[in-house]
Amino acid sequence: MERTGPFRGRTIAVVDDLSRDEQRYLYGLARQIKDTIRSGRDPSRFRISDRDYQVYLIFLENSTRTRESFRNAAEFHGCRVNMFDAATSSFAKNESLSDAVKMLVGYAPESCFVLRTGLEGVCRWLDASVGAYCESAGFPKPAFLNAGDGKHEHPTQEFLDEFTFLEHLGGDDSRIHLALVGDLWHGRTVHSKAEGLGIFREVSVDLVAPELLSMPPVYVERMRAAGFEVRAYESLDEYLASGRVAPIWYYTRLQLERMGERVLDRAAELRRAVTFRPDMMSRLPEGSRFYHPLPRDRKAPVIPTFLDGLPLNGWDAQSANGYYVRIALLGLASGALGGDFQGAPKEPLRFEEDFVTEAAVTPRVKPEHKVGIKPVENGIVIDHVAAGRPVREIWDTLDKIRRILGLDVRSSHGVYHSNAGPEVFKGILSLPDILAFDRRDLKKLGAIAPGCTLNLIKDSRVLRKYRLAMPPRIYNFDQISCKNEACVSRPAHQEGAPAQFRRTGERKFTCLYCDREHEFGEIWDL
Ligand code: CP
Repeated sequence: MERTGPFRGRTIAVVDDLSRDEQRYLYGLARQIKDTIRSGRDPSRFRISDRDYQVYLIFLENSTRTRESFRNAAEFHGCRVNMFDAATSSFAKNESLSDAVKMLVGYAPESCFVLRTGLEGVCRWLDASVGAYCESAGFPKPAFLNAGDGKHEHPTQEFLDEFTFLEHLGGDDSRIHLALVGDLWHGRTVHSKAEGLGIFREVSVDLVAPELLSMPPVYVERMRAAGFEVRAYESLDEYLASGRVAPIWYYTRLQLERMGERVLDRAAELRRAVTFRPDMMSRLPEGSRFYHPLPRDRKAPVIPTFLDGLPLNGWDAQSANGYYVRIALLGLASGALGGDFQGAPKEPLRFEEDFVTEAAVTPRVKPEHKVGIKPVENGIVIDHVAAGRPVREIWDTLDKIRRILGLDVRSSHGVYHSNAGPEVFKGILSLPDILAFDRRDLKKLGAIAPGCTLNLIKDSRVLRKYRLAMPPRIYNFDQISCKNEACVSRPAHQEGAPAQFRRTGERKFTCLYCDREHEFGEIWDL
């Protein structure tokens, strides 16, 4: 089969790496594959059928369903299937993941890597680093599929969950009402619902978890921002008494071991709050179905085993759907499938780099910028540094500008009143004899002190004035780092991934690998 489809070489690190149209297309394709296989018809038209196409499974953390469904899906396709053995590989000799993957790329004409690791954002890093290597070495760029990265995302699980919900609703995507039950604090599969449920036009979500295990506010906000109706309950008893119970329940395993000593004496009470009991059966809506990404805790399952043989059991079929959805994903990533996709593709991230604007200069006769011992006659004055921020932050910002831009020169700086009000302050840094700032330094200055102005002074007059806005991206600094310890970019992980952030709010920056959001000041290490 020709492999020229539009998804060829696509990396799926997060659910949002597929547009809504692409997600719907995936579900339609998985539906066709499942129907064909289940009805015993010939599924050949869905196969990659290329022994030279390599699917490499790299599972550095435990897995049963994800690893085995991907392995079986790759076998279905008739491609070369490899399992990476971390225990006996050069990982034990401290080799980086990106070095190992670059080497594996050379063993086949084209590859797809499926990765489960504790390192968050690893697929994005490999897509960039191995992608650059492949371009220079003449290999087609591999696809990287995230099979679960720490607490970050598990997008292929989300796709199979949504496929299962659609199946339950007979393909009707007009409305869904579901309950998310269990450990909503730790469960990455329930966090992904904020994105994945967006394929339905109307969404009502009931969150059922004791306060200690409740959904982190960032995901609740995302759900509300997406137009979902969201209601919260602290226990199943409270929920069942509400009178408006969802017919679809999605459970997650309790991960109390992650919470340490502070919950040990409350563990039984937390479990009780979300564990289903026989007396609750009569309060469920007719035709209700329970789902669970599994594994289920064999000692204390929140879905007890007495439910296994009842029509309520949707979790076994859900887990089997992983096979069909992953057949579809591998077929798309190889380029063998997807040729008839006609919807809106995912737009790549674009950064508006033009954050330096030239401002008008007001002519004045008297010398300007009388900062320091004497006015600057020729040089540069950086004004409005951290204007309006607390005085301590203004001093810190002045210090950062000097240290990051290497301004160890004759100069002066200070914190002064701003014209904006009696209690409003700003920093000013005057640099006599420095007559030019190149674009790279301007970018750096904008990143350190957004909102400042840079004045070029000649013969005691402002010749040019530039305003520097908050840049859309901050990268290329030794002095920045993501504060998520599990992020692939943390130096401790020795992957060589440089810290990079994109602006996602007025003073908010999000890590380009692991999606951790930071306040502007938090990204700096100075
Ligand atoms: N649902 C899920 O990811 O299961 P595994 O950990 O067994 O892959």
